[in-house]
Amino acid sequence: MATPHISAAPGQIAPAVVMPGDPRRAERIAKDYFSNVELVSDVRNIQAWTGTFDGKPITAMASGMGVPSLSIYATELYRFYGVQRICRVGTIGGISRQINIGDVAIGAFAHNNSQVANLWVPGITLSLAASTDMLITAVAKARQLVAGSDQQVLTGALFSSDFFYLDRPDIVERLADLGCLGTEMEAAGLYACALREGREALAVCTVSDHLTLPQPPMSSAERETLFATALEVGLAALLA
Ligand code: HPA
Repeated sequence: MATPHISAAPGQIAPAVVMPGDPRRAERIAKDYFSNVELVSDVRNIQAWTGTFDGKPITAMASGMGVPSLSIYATELYRFYGVQRICRVGTIGGISRQINIGDVAIGAFAHNNSQVANLWVPGITLSLAASTDMLITAVAKARQLVAGSDQQVLTGALFSSDFFYLDRPDIVERLADLGCLGTEMEAAGLYACALREGREALAVCTVSDHLTLPQPPMSSAERETLFATALEVGLAALLA
């Protein structure tokens, strides 16, 4: 049975899904990291690739950009395909003055300016948090991967914004004062969907640009190696 946005047959999606924002990155992840890769859905060019990693079944599928897009895919994966774990692997704009371009931010929870935390229980703002089991595995794996390198791993709050062009430096400064690691556009929606469906989720992000510190952009070689850390952390958290 397909869903409105996923054409895979039952059983073609693995219980663990790694979810970048960009469909091309989902394909790259599958082709570079998975064995026995098969294209199982491509509605709207959001392709789902299923294969194995370390001998375990896994699917790579993009979220598109923003909470509404991600929430459609995450809900259909959890609710109709029996997916247990989704790990977003993405990029953030750095906000904390402790985090640098190229570092890894593990999203223990997600502040947001979206309505996702307010819509399901009247009068209550829900806490949107990562799965504890996935978080514990991710932190340990990330520390091991960056040991001895300049790349840092920070665990804490992400800010999921409904506007990429928020143009509110006052808000960014306040969030920096609160130690928020950086901004992206999906983690809060993913954590909300996991909460509602009773499943697990995590977001592991690489800092691609910085909103509060003047920092040079990454070279393309740095981009590849530094993004690989977040991906390997995500795969470990999904399959532990
Ligand atoms: N804003 C939102 N999403 C992002 C950013 C940003 O600055 N950088 C990377 N993803």
